[in-house]
Formats: sequence, C-alpha cells, structure tokens
Amino acid sequence: MDKEKTYQELYPQIKALIEKESDLIANLGNVCAALHFPFNFHWTGFYLVKKNELVLGPFQGPVACTRIGFDKGVCGKAWKQKNTLIVADVNQFDGHIACSPFSKSEIVIPLIINDEVWGVLDIDSSEFDTFDEIDRKYLSSICEALNFSYISNN
Ligand code: SME
Repeated sequence: MDKEKTYQELYPQIKALIEKESDLIANLGNVCAALHFPFNFHWTGFYLVKKNELVLGPFQGPVACTRIGFDKGVCGKAWKQKNTLIVADVNQFDGHIACSPFSKSEIVIPLIINDEVWGVLDIDSSEFDTFDEIDRKYLSSICEALNFSYISNN
C-alpha cells in the first residue's frame, strides 16, 4: 500500500484513539505504536520539554538518549526553530545525535501551542531519504490532535 493511503487509513483511527482518552501519556504511547508498526520505522517517539531540555517520553524502538538540549541535534533544532525538520541523511546534518547506528534519515515535528513548544515527535528510519511532504502533512495533523490532549492535562 502506498504511504499516503496508509496515513489516510491511520489518521481517523489515531484521532478516535486520542479523543476517547484524556491522559496525555497514554495517548502519546498509543500514537507511537500506531505509527511505528505500519511503516516499519526504526524509532518512533516523543521528547517532552522539561525546563530547558527535551526529556525522552513514550517511544517504540531501541533504547534512546534521554535528554537533548535546546538547539542540540535535530530535535533541539526543531524545538528552537519551531519548525518541522526533514533530514534525508543524518550523516550530513551538523550536530545530529546518533542514538543508533541504524538511523539513516529522520523527521522531527514540534508540538506547539500558542507559539510555545511542549515537545517533539521524532521518527527515525533505517533507510536514507524516507520522509517527505506527505509525512509532514499527516504527522502535523496528528501532532495538532495531540495538542487537545496536552491542554486537558495541563
Ligand atoms: N535523532 C535525534 C536524537 C534522538 S534519537 O534519534 C531517538 C536528534 O539528533 O535530535
């Protein structure tokens, strides 16, 4: 099945999952699982802003680094820039934090409410050049749906 079709099927399922549950961590956990397996990503997870750094949240995949500073790595840069970053080859990204040698490309989407980042969704692929505008579009919608969950927990 092509990627867009998979997202089109997954999106309403993920939205329904999130809307039924008010707990943020439960929702972040299920979103990771719902995305990770259909696409066979290498690593799918959240980092949450706590004071001045990103701290590892729910994820699927191998053990990862637990803390990432502001402006550090792809995640810290997406936090600083308040923008989605798509990296076709992590070896070419200055300052990439290599949690796993198998990670070849990645996308990081910041979770933003009122211009303030509260976390990031980080997805790593074991292939180069995995992510494009289709991923950006659907993953951004999923992140927006998670904002409601964040608001009701804070
Ligand atoms: N890729 C990230 C580090 C986190 S791991 O990939 C899970 C980065 O450079 O921000």
